[in-house]
Amino acid sequence: MSKIFVAGGSGRVATELIKDLVSDGNQVVAGARRPEKITNLEGVSAVKLDLHAEVNEIAKLMNDCDVVYFVAGSRGNDLLQTDAFGAVKTMMAAEKDGIKRYVMLSSMYALQPEMWTKYKALAEITDYNIAKFFADNYLIHNTDLAYTIVQPATLTEEPGTGLVTLGAGGDTTNPIPDVAKVLANTLKHENTIGKVIMMRSGKTPIDDALSNLND
Ligand SMILES: NC(=O)c1ccc[n+]([C@@H]2O[C@H](COP(=O)([O-])OP(=O)(O)OC[C@H]3O[C@@H](n4cnc5c(N)ncnc54)[C@H](OP(=O)(O)O)[C@@H]3O)[C@@H](O)[C@H]2O)c1
Repeated sequence: MSKIFVAGGSGRVATELIKDLVSDGNQVVAGARRPEKITNLEGVSAVKLDLHAEVNEIAKLMNDCDVVYFVAGSRGNDLLQTDAFGAVKTMMAAEKDGIKRYVMLSSMYALQPEMWTKYKALAEITDYNIAKFFADNYLIHNTDLAYTIVQPATLTEEPGTGLVTLGAGGDTTNPIPDVAKVLANTLKHENTIGKVIMMRSGKTPIDDALSNLND
């Protein structure tokens, strides 16, 4: 069992992710500015997290956790302080607390600016792409965290299928429960450490796809 901090703990992905983490036997500390919106489940404690806070304050919230997930986002309203530097501050806080494992929910092709004009969905959100580019790069190059970065395409509220394709591909969609399951199950697959995993809907069961990830 691990104790897991989820930044952005009331969001659509977080709500599914927290259910998965708890049903896998973990304890969760979930943070958002409005903690009352965090799912009320046994094994989950809700805390008030504002990503505008100082690193020290964020570190206090996660200080006895083993893993940090970043699934927060500002829906384009506060890209610098939430999606970009808010994410970086959770990395700094994790390292300050001696937490090693960090899982980032990113976005398709966040690390490949040359792809941003190739797909309409990405061409419309350049500032968001830049924020995620910054956060993903910081995680890879400026921390010693044992990271996994998951980069889905457009999220949908369709039911999960449990089936995915991992790796680069076109501008497709991902049901939110499948994104949550990939995020949760990275903890069961040590080979996901140090990997950037693009995902979209597909035909492979999630655990098989994670087991067979290429370098
Ligand atoms: N939409 C897509 O198609 C798509 C595609 C690929 C990747 N993604 C990524 O997936 C992420 C999660 O998506 P989602 O739909 O689950 O998001 P969501 O429902 O909008 O949830 C965002 C979460 O972030 C929290 N948050 C926002 N600002 C914060 C701040 N300053 N401090 C602390 N918490 C803050 C929100 O809670 P409070 O407001 O209470 O603080 C909420 O818990 C997105 O942000 C995006 O980066 C999205």
